[in-house]
Amino acid sequence: MRLRKVKNAKEIVDNHPLVIKELNNKTFINNNPISIEIGTGKGDFIIEMAKKYPHINFIGIEKYESVLIRALEKTDEIPLNLRFICNDARFINDYLKIKINNIYLNFSDPWPKKRHEKRRLTSQDFLEKYEKLFDHEINIYLKTDNKGLFAYSIISLNNSNYIFKDLSLNLHQEKIPNVFTEYEKKFSSLDITINYLHAFKKI
Ligand SMILES: C[S@@+](CC[C@H](N)C(=O)[O-])C[C@H]1O[C@@H](n2cnc3c(N)ncnc32)[C@H](O)[C@@H]1O
Repeated sequence: MRLRKVKNAKEIVDNHPLVIKELNNKTFINNNPISIEIGTGKGDFIIEMAKKYPHINFIGIEKYESVLIRALEKTDEIPLNLRFICNDARFINDYLKIKINNIYLNFSDPWPKKRHEKRRLTSQDFLEKYEKLFDHEINIYLKTDNKGLFAYSIISLNNSNYIFKDLSLNLHQEKIPNVFTEYEKKFSSLDITINYLHAFKKI
C-alpha cells in the first residue's frame, strides 16, 4: 500500500479517541455483538459497516500507524460502535480480551511464497488463534481478488471443519449484501472479479 508519509503518525494514532489498546468489557457501552476486521487499511469498510449496522460493535485492526491514520482522518465524529486497534494480528489473543462474533478478512496480503504460509490470515496458526476469540459459533467472512489465497483459504478452513455458508467467484453478481473496501473499489473499476466466502463452525 503506497502512502504519503505522515509526521508523528504514531503519536496521533496513540492519542486518538477512537484508538484503544485492547478490547475489554469497558470498550462499548452495551453488550451488542462484536465484529472485527483484520487488516482494516484505510477504513472504508469498517466505517461504513458501523454506520449501516448501529446495533453491532466494530473493531478495525491495522498493523501500521501510517495506514490507520488514513482511516482516522475519515471519521469526523466518535461513533459509539466503532474502535480501532493498531497492532499485529499475530498477537490478537493478547489484546482481544472478550469474546467476539464475526471476523472480516478483506483483501488480506496473499503471501504467495510457501515459506511465508504462516503469515496468511487463514493459515492453521491464525485459525487456532481465532478459535479462542469465540464462545459458541465462529463466523469468518473473506473477500479477495487473489485466487491463490482464496483456494488456500477454502482448503485451510475445510481442514479445520468449517462449513461454507456462501462461496462465490464473483461476489458482485450475487445478491449478497456488500460494503465495498478501498481495494474492492479499485479492483472493481478494473473489472477484476471478487472471490467471497462466509464460513462458520460451531465450537
Ligand atoms: C491489501 S490491504 C487491504 C486493506 C483493506 N482491508 C481493503 O480491503 O481495502 C491489507 C492490509 O492489512 C494490513 N495487515 C497485513 N498484515 C496484518 C497483520 N498481521 N495484522 C494487522 N494488519 C495487517 C496491512 O497493513 C494492510 O493495511
